[in-house]
Amino acid sequence: MRTYSGNAQLQAALGKLRRDGNTIGFVPTMGNLHEGHLDLVRKARDLCDIVVVSIFVNPLQFGAGEDLDAYPRTLAADKEKLFAEGVQVLYAPGVEEIYPEGMAAQTIVHVPDLGDTLCGSSRPGHFDGVTTVVSKLFNIVQPDIAVFGEKDFQQLSIVRKMVTDLCLPIRIVGVATTRAEDGLALSSRNGYLSLDQRSIAPMLHQTLNSCREAIACGFDNFLQLESHARMRLLQSGFEPDYFAIRDARTLSQVTEDTEEIAILAAARLGKTRLIDNVRLSLNPVSDWGMLASGH
Ligand code: PAJ
Repeated sequence: MRTYSGNAQLQAALGKLRRDGNTIGFVPTMGNLHEGHLDLVRKARDLCDIVVVSIFVNPLQFGAGEDLDAYPRTLAADKEKLFAEGVQVLYAPGVEEIYPEGMAAQTIVHVPDLGDTLCGSSRPGHFDGVTTVVSKLFNIVQPDIAVFGEKDFQQLSIVRKMVTDLCLPIRIVGVATTRAEDGLALSSRNGYLSLDQRSIAPMLHQTLNSCREAIACGFDNFLQLESHARMRLLQSGFEPDYFAIRDARTLSQVTEDTEEIAILAAARLGKTRLIDNVRLSLNPVSDWGMLASGH
């Protein structure tokens, strides 16, 4: 595995690999790698000849008072994991490589609507930071395929929209959320949890699942389901940020055209903000028409 921190060296190496006829799969990350990240790597490996992983803790997507400084940086251990997975190229740039002129006057990529709701409203500027850095990384790496996790479902939707809107010649592939045995979605932020908090944390996924089951059984009062779920999270010790039943394609309210529902939640346990989501296909659509009209 070759590691690059400079753009020019990385691009020279990738240019050669591309000219030799290799396809390039890309997995952007912020490091502190766990099995969730490695599942994306495995997907990229299945689909492409060369796997490029980036590790960059992107300051532009962290708000004031968020965990930028505390974010776990574990490059040596990450390298071992990537090497063991057969990754050929690691790109680990410094901040000055990505933001050579600083961040204050940086051109921003903004995806409207999808980027303004849910995590976008509770973390203003967050998705602009994500889409801006992902655009830069795409331009630097120029992959054929880029792999993202459904764990960050809103992020995945926003990246797909950006790629479509900007006609970027990259196929975006989503990978199902990797979970601990008790259902907790793997996340670099789980490491912040105390033992007590860790024992409560799976309740987030359980609450999402209960909500999905209720909808699957025909319960159609979404406002009631959302407020019941928020209450349940609150009673378990979370500070809920949002719990929302949305159209999986638009992330706006469910309508009679909705084909798939996404139930998304963000909640704090102490200082740690956890997010998770589950989805539910509405099949057959005709049954759903009746259900949606009652909402
Ligand atoms: P990071 O949180 O490191 O996540 C990198 C990728 O791993 C994302 O696509 C994320 O959805 C995926 N991922 C994280 N936990 C997962 C899990 N339990 N199961 C499946 N996939 C999982 O997301 C980011 O970094 C950044 O915003 C980034 C896209 C790199 C831009 O800075």
